[in-house]
Amino acid sequence: MLELNEKIKDHFRNPHNVGEIENAEGMGAINNPVCGDTTKLYLRIKDGLVEDAKFLSFGCAVTIASASVLTDKIKGKEISKLLSGTDEEVVKRLISLIENELGEIPPIKLHCPPATVQVLLESIAGYFEKEGKSEMSSRAKTLIPQISEYYKRGREEE
Ligand code: FES
Repeated sequence: MLELNEKIKDHFRNPHNVGEIENAEGMGAINNPVCGDTTKLYLRIKDGLVEDAKFLSFGCAVTIASASVLTDKIKGKEISKLLSGTDEEVVKRLISLIENELGEIPPIKLHCPPATVQVLLESIAGYFEKEGKSEMSSRAKTLIPQISEYYKRGREEE
């Protein structure tokens, strides 16, 4: 049986920020390209700040733990700061927000956190699109292909 550390188990058993946000400024949904697990993310954004973040997921324990951590971490953050840096830096930083908090993740589950980052970027892109800020929306969208490398991790161990 797959061994998960206590931190992951704890977020899985008691996930933070589960639910929907009505009329969310940012919203995204993803089917994990590796396994098909689904996550939806809702963002309440006021004056460029993430005021609230919630998620719903039909996913594995690591996906639920990832969404629990990421929603905690982005609350109170400026959207522009979340996207600052080179494409590589931004994606790495967002994935590290999850993975540094969760600790060791079994190799065959390393494709789970990237999907949570992808759904965040999709939600941010949607938010900027609604705001008529197409440049910022494109910026968020151009980060998404950078995630593909992270989905490949651990595959050779499956
Ligand atoms: Fe599908 Fe974790 S997201 S196994």
